[in-house]
Amino acid sequence: MSKKTISPGGHVTGVVELPGDKSISHRYAILAALAEGPSEIFNYATAADCQTTLECLRRLGVQLDATRERVRITGTGLDGLKTPKRPLDAENSGSTMRMLAGVLAGQKFTSTITGDGSLRKRPMRRVAEPLRLMGAEIRGRDGDLAPLEIRGGNLHAVDYTLPVPSAQVKSAILFAGLYADGVTAVRESVRTRDHTELALREFGATIESAKDSIRIHPRPKLTARQLTVPGDLSGAVFLACAALILPDSSLMLHNVGLNPTRAKVLDFLISIGAQINLASVQLRDGELVGDLSVRYSRLSGESIAGAQVAEMIDELPMLAALGSYTEKGIEIHDASELRVKESDRIATLAAGLHRMGADVEEFPDGLRVAGRSAGKLRGAKVDPQGDHRIAMAFAVAALRAEGETRIRGAEAAVISYPGFSDALERVAQR
Ligand code: S3P
Repeated sequence: MSKKTISPGGHVTGVVELPGDKSISHRYAILAALAEGPSEIFNYATAADCQTTLECLRRLGVQLDATRERVRITGTGLDGLKTPKRPLDAENSGSTMRMLAGVLAGQKFTSTITGDGSLRKRPMRRVAEPLRLMGAEIRGRDGDLAPLEIRGGNLHAVDYTLPVPSAQVKSAILFAGLYADGVTAVRESVRTRDHTELALREFGATIESAKDSIRIHPRPKLTARQLTVPGDLSGAVFLACAALILPDSSLMLHNVGLNPTRAKVLDFLISIGAQINLASVQLRDGELVGDLSVRYSRLSGESIAGAQVAEMIDELPMLAALGSYTEKGIEIHDASELRVKESDRIATLAAGLHRMGADVEEFPDGLRVAGRSAGKLRGAKVDPQGDHRIAMAFAVAALRAEGETRIRGAEAAVISYPGFSDALERVAQR
């Protein structure tokens, strides 16, 4: 495991092109595999998680050809997937495991899906339960942990209310709904990211989204498409925050996905004083895309709770790490979900920020990071516990700390943003 040293100082300026969005890439790949004929996906995520999804699809017999420019996927149709010879390996990717579980539940064969040490500890009952209600047989280890053995086929339509807001679980049920014997409905109390609904529509499925429910009609003929993935907003947020905290910074982030179910983080940052402007906003393949310009700003700080948690779930590590650079600090509640992500994000953040000298209080459902008056962050040795988003959040916080920060296993960023360090180095002016 390598260490990365971040030296503070300077500012960021220039233009960054973002890699393809991780969430959208998974969905386009899965649906292209289930469509009939060859699809082409441009700007497919370089994120390791999305390469993992491609590898799982290959093991399911899908023909795939990936170049730097595009991924070409020859869809097998809804019923053309093959029994995998070996277990599918979702590695670190919860999205791959949960969403593919929905597809596998619809297949007439039995398959097993596993993952790395982190993923094998993450809760899978939330996806197993609704898929069992639909008729799939799913066996997990010690109470629904991966590996999951899934025997699919003959699914019934259900009307299911998500107990935990989760776009991954919603997507699994919608994918399984493609194979059901009637119209499947999913209800959610907080509107989670709707990329699956938009992508299903792009590929020709019949899907109705109302205020509190989404209904998918079974057995559509999915048609192959050419689609371009917007840049990853969740990755862009790390660079945006670097610009927000380093005086004299001014950064352009090109071609970023601005889907309203993802962009609440921008509203939040603007509400605490961030100078962020949007330009060239357009609808492309059903998704909003645009350019962001971000300038150094004085941030006031705020509390985050309730629906905001699900709406900004992937950005909470960066927002917490921003706390010490705000006036009032950042306080997060209702976010116990963070404890079952790639790491226990509350504990990992609290430990690392504490080592950097932040005044941090950990709660069962969140944390408080005190604002500027509690003192400056200082460089320290921090351990993101192999968690990509925390590695990047610490790297950004370190940019304005006093002294060098050493991040253990900073290469974990490859999970969602392999080019993060290079992008940061390119825009950094010392
Ligand atoms: C994702 C949904 C979120 C998010 C994850 C990606 C998705 O997880 O944290 O990084 O692509 O659907 P949950 O659905 O478990 O909240």
